[in-house]
Amino acid sequence: MTEIDWILRRRSIRKFTEQKLTSDQIRLLLEAAMAAPTALNLKPWKFIIVEDENGLSELRKALPFGKIDAPCAIVVCGDLQSVKKPVTERFWVQDCSAASQNLLLAATSLGLGSVWCGVHPINQIEKSVRKALDIPQDVIPLNVIFIGYPAEEKLPRTQYSDKYVYSEKYGVPCEL
Ligand SMILES: Cc1cc2nc3c(=O)[nH]c(=O)nc-3n(C[C@H](O)[C@H](O)[C@H](O)COP(=O)(O)O)c2cc1C
Repeated sequence: MTEIDWILRRRSIRKFTEQKLTSDQIRLLLEAAMAAPTALNLKPWKFIIVEDENGLSELRKALPFGKIDAPCAIVVCGDLQSVKKPVTERFWVQDCSAASQNLLLAATSLGLGSVWCGVHPINQIEKSVRKALDIPQDVIPLNVIFIGYPAEEKLPRTQYSDKYVYSEKYGVPCEL
């Protein structure tokens, strides 16, 4: 298995067994997340681990497209409260998205399934997730990542297509 194979194997998994994650697994996922690049290396992130059934149920209620039964959710937030820098105000979404993708890939490599459910920039979902988890103003939930042992199988794949690739100048077809 090469590193690229792990990237192709990452698929959105929405059905999970009841088996819980260990704290070592969660720690590894978060170490992978916090290895991501961030603008000026400011790391404007906070991660909320939710395993309590009440919390998970509140999250499901808050997410119109995230009614997913998983033993664990990690909510990735942009922290504009403690990292008060203009660069963070502009780049926190990219910073936290890079961390999120690392987390999804790490989950795949541990044999876990995961799915990214979008929160920011949908105001109503942000508001509901903030309320469910006591997230302060100036800390913005970007997504909810549900994680667990997969109860469905999906094939690895790329979605490569020449139509997304140009050569040298915009609009010039490129065949590789
Ligand atoms: C910003 C973002 C928001 C997403 N929101 C949801 C969501 O609310 N619910 C869901 O089931 N999947 C969500 N997804 C997962 C996508 O549906 C999924 O990545 C896409 O269909 C491609 O499938 P794959 O992840 O298996 O490659 C989201 C993904 C991204 C990047």
